[in-house]
Amino acid sequence: MLQLVPASLDPPPGLEAFLREVGHGESGFGGTEYASGKLSLHDYLTIQVNYSAGRNMAAGHVPATTFWAIDDGGEVVGMLRLRHHLNDALLRSGGHIGYYVRPAARGNGFATEMLRLALGEARATGIKRVLLTAYTSNDASVRVIVKNGGVLEDVVPHPETGEPHARYWIDLS
Ligand SMILES: CC(C)(COP(=O)(O)OP(=O)(O)OC[C@H]1O[C@@H](n2cnc3c(N)ncnc32)[C@H](O)[C@@H]1OP(=O)(O)O)[C@@H](O)C(=O)NCCC(=O)NCCS
Repeated sequence: MLQLVPASLDPPPGLEAFLREVGHGESGFGGTEYASGKLSLHDYLTIQVNYSAGRNMAAGHVPATTFWAIDDGGEVVGMLRLRHHLNDALLRSGGHIGYYVRPAARGNGFATEMLRLALGEARATGIKRVLLTAYTSNDASVRVIVKNGGVLEDVVPHPETGEPHARYWIDLS
């Protein structure tokens, strides 16, 4: 069974190797600040804990909780970010939730399960309607969203890359 564990100052085994793999991200998932190489693991985790509490955030950022997806064997197979609310930028692109599964673990249904679990977390946070965005070319991510009940709002050029980019809502009420 997969578990979503909120980031804390106590890292799960193998987290550093996982974060190095995530690097600067992929296909619309923005990577992590740890990829800069300028932060210790402790400092990186401190930033995650602060964001979850809405402390010391960069200008224009909203509170967000980072979760590690941990499989039965205790391995970190993915990560997910849940933003507690939207701002104008996230409404255009990014939405409430972003996720990443390490390449070797893909194709096992992990992202589908991660999003399902995250919808429970979103509901507990008081979010009524979850926005998800994905490049239309990102077949796997689009499937993950649709399998979790995503309803297409529109397809618009991505504000930064100009590539077709879809916005989906999932109603939690
Ligand atoms: C998108 C991503 C999270 C999917 O992770 P995953 O754990 O492999 O996803 P799942 O195993 O839950 O698969 C979801 C669906 O996508 C399909 N799928 C997986 N890889 C695919 C591919 N390369 N092309 C087409 N469909 C694919 C699966 O078959 C499954 O659909 P099905 O149940 O109808 O068969 C992963 O590819 C990833 O981390 N990509 C980089 C980051 C990213 O794109 N994040 C999303 C943007 S925020």
